[in-house]
Amino acid sequence: MSGIQGKRDLFSSKFGIIAAAAGSAVGLGNIWKFPYIAGVYGGAAFLFVYLGFIIVVGMPVMLSELIIGRKSKRNAFGAFKVLAPGTPWKYIGILSVAAAFLILSFYGVVAGWGIEYVFISLKNGFSGNSPEEIAAFFTAFNHDPIKPIVYQLVFMLLTAAIVIVGVKKGIEKYTKILMPLLVIILLILCARSVTLDGAKAGLTFLFNPDFSKLTGDGILSALGHAFFTLSLGMGTLITYGSYIDKNNNLANTVLSVTLADTLIAIFAGIAIFPAVFAFGIEPSEGPGLIFVTLPNVFSQMPGGFIFSVLFFILLTVAALTSAISILEVVVAYFKEEFKMSRKTSTIVATILISILGMLCSLSLGDLSSVHIFGLNIFDAIDWVSANVFLPVGGLFIVLFIGWVFGKKKVKAELSDGSKIPDIFLNVFIFLVKLVAPLLIAIVLLNKVGLLNF
Ligand code: PHE
Repeated sequence: MSGIQGKRDLFSSKFGIIAAAAGSAVGLGNIWKFPYIAGVYGGAAFLFVYLGFIIVVGMPVMLSELIIGRKSKRNAFGAFKVLAPGTPWKYIGILSVAAAFLILSFYGVVAGWGIEYVFISLKNGFSGNSPEEIAAFFTAFNHDPIKPIVYQLVFMLLTAAIVIVGVKKGIEKYTKILMPLLVIILLILCARSVTLDGAKAGLTFLFNPDFSKLTGDGILSALGHAFFTLSLGMGTLITYGSYIDKNNNLANTVLSVTLADTLIAIFAGIAIFPAVFAFGIEPSEGPGLIFVTLPNVFSQMPGGFIFSVLFFILLTVAALTSAISILEVVVAYFKEEFKMSRKTSTIVATILISILGMLCSLSLGDLSSVHIFGLNIFDAIDWVSANVFLPVGGLFIVLFIGWVFGKKKVKAELSDGSKIPDIFLNVFIFLVKLVAPLLIAIVLLNKVGLLNF
């Protein structure tokens, strides 16, 4: 263990910490999922509920994870062994590692589609196609047994190449370059979108709430999405927290990361909805919104070719900085708990996750007849990880901080990097002890059908 404690590879700067954590948070969740679920659940009304959950549940869970990580200086499993030795709390860590495994398997597949779309855009492959042809292309492509797997593997290799180098020289270095790049591309796309004729309807849809459109299911999805988008409930921020030094003001880090993630989701909405409305397309398209609707928009838009290239590069970059953080959860676990080198753990984790990812990809085509609880492998893994693993993980994490770790130690840990006002501490403890657990429990019971709205 001594090597792990003594020479822990730490983030080297405040910006590096924020770039890495915001890089984790900003991903397919912001650019692929947020716009389409906001589209399905009525736009602005969904946005407001989601923002509420981000504040009362998301931020407290994020701070709890960072505290657990920094205090223990261990991976998501080892952290609980250090902080609550000899108790079953460590199994929360196992749940986290399992969730990372599952999420990265399908995440890599969707990110691979993003890479394929960069190449198609470069060849200007969507121009002149009818909406039906573009939709048919997407279905044929993701049903193909080979191509999406090749792209998924390319994406997994890129992710592994960064993780294998380490925390400072790999994760921090690359997220510090990729995140500003992402912001620049996104702002260019926003500028293009809002200057299209007819863009205003899209902005109204995104910012003018019509609460009659908000269903119970929409409210529940808003909470689930708050977890997913902030990378919570599966030890990502426990792992990253373990690479943060004592002097960092964790509360400020939480605020910066949450703000960055939320603003980027809103900007993704601004880049997408005005364009969608300007070309008279339905905003409630669902998961195909960016792979089917947007290529349509781009093919009709002046200069659409270049914006299409930029958009899919943006998507791939965002997915990459998130995938790094997911892989790191598994790598840190293998490395510290099985005493493997970083190199071996990265290779083993990447191979295992890629195999599961191939099954996810095949389950859309050749393996579509294989069903788990009535869903194909891809959907089953997506469903169980987002709806069960993340909320359960998050629930136990806040319960641990609120009831086991306790206010005194929280105060000591947070006072390291800053002065903590009592009121802040009291509100935080109230949120993690009662509000967040209750809200998560309600959502969870509803998702599994034990409670019905
Ligand atoms: N937050 C990432 C996104 O929005 C996904 C993610 C989930 C990353 C869980 C890490 C852990 O795409």
